[in-house]
Amino acid sequence: MPTSKRLNVAVVGATGLVGNEMLRVLAERNFPSARVVALASERSKGLTVPYNGSSLEVEEIKESAFKGIDVALFAASGDIALMYGPVAAESGVLVIDNSSAWRMKDNVPLVVPEVNPDDIPQNEGIIANPNCCAIPLAVILNPIKQKAGLERVLVSTYQSASGAGRMLVEELEEQTKAIADGKTPSVAAYPYQLAHNVVPGGWHPEAGGYNEEEVKIVNETRKILHEPELRIAATCVRVPVPVGHGESVFIETKDKITADEVRTLLGSAPGVIVQDDPHAKLYPTPHGVAGTDEVYVGRIRDDASARHGFLLWIVSDNLRKGAALNAVQIAEQAIEMGAVGTVKA
Ligand SMILES: NC(=O)c1ccc[n+]([C@@H]2O[C@H](COP(=O)([O-])OP(=O)(O)OC[C@H]3O[C@@H](n4cnc5c(N)ncnc54)[C@H](OP(=O)(O)O)[C@@H]3O)[C@@H](O)[C@H]2O)c1
Repeated sequence: MPTSKRLNVAVVGATGLVGNEMLRVLAERNFPSARVVALASERSKGLTVPYNGSSLEVEEIKESAFKGIDVALFAASGDIALMYGPVAAESGVLVIDNSSAWRMKDNVPLVVPEVNPDDIPQNEGIIANPNCCAIPLAVILNPIKQKAGLERVLVSTYQSASGAGRMLVEELEEQTKAIADGKTPSVAAYPYQLAHNVVPGGWHPEAGGYNEEEVKIVNETRKILHEPELRIAATCVRVPVPVGHGESVFIETKDKITADEVRTLLGSAPGVIVQDDPHAKLYPTPHGVAGTDEVYVGRIRDDASARHGFLLWIVSDNLRKGAALNAVQIAEQAIEMGAVGTVKA
């Protein structure tokens, strides 16, 4: 990293799943920080969160908490991002937000560093981190787009409990234990029992029978890839898995490309690991990739039902590449581009 300046970093939502993971990723990657501040709600004031072999005391978020901060990684709700993002940005902080509040705004870059790093300098103080399924999908689609052009994409997701935050992870654990103990599991954090189940919903309904998650995947993938007219549709499903989102994807290209060519192409794509040998039982699973950084792809097959089409299966850790890691990678890329470190206040 070219800068020698060490930066002051704030993690907003430091007590949550993504915030915890951000602190872990910052330490693991030896992010050039002088000071790291953990912020959360008033409820968490005075609690501690683990950081770099030690712990940080959690402070309550307030406007003054951003004084002297260079980079703020937001991992709280959209409301918090809307309330504090502009305040922080106006005082010279580079805000990288994980909520969906800013993602589709014109003056806010929506960035996956392997795909569209050149959008970073267009920021006006806020950069958005995309949806946890849109990130791995864009990482896989970008090299295919460059090689053969994209005609149409259909995606079905298999999303883990952690994608909905800490409460659903805890509820899934409790439900699984209750079932094992012969008891009736309680249901509070999600519309249906998730243990021993698969739920094709749980997100806010939108027009046409879609839900907000499906709309996010469509709109954000188009924005990241600079393909505003891309023909793409999604079906989102929650599965009883703690960490790691799967995506079954059909891709139709403008030019012909075979499954073998796709396998070779993705084998050298940045941030991608191909695991594709069904005879050797080699294909990615959420359990197998949880805790790792890359986007994994397997089950790459020609689709005989399409003119230029193929199918594949993607898995990535939603808390890392789908959220915390991608946000830290954006910060690292912004540092390289000289887009951070000019604190005004
Ligand atoms: N989970 C994923 O896979 C994923 C992926 C991509 C994006 N995201 C997005 O990342 C964000 C965090 O998700 P998560 O899964 O980490 O959720 P989570 O585990 O439920 O954590 C939520 C965090 O927000 C904080 N918070 C809540 N109300 C607050 C307030 N009034 N002021 C300050 N902080 C407040 C919480 O602090 P307290 O402990 O003090 O309540 C907690 O630290 C969400 O916007 C989510 O959509 C999540």
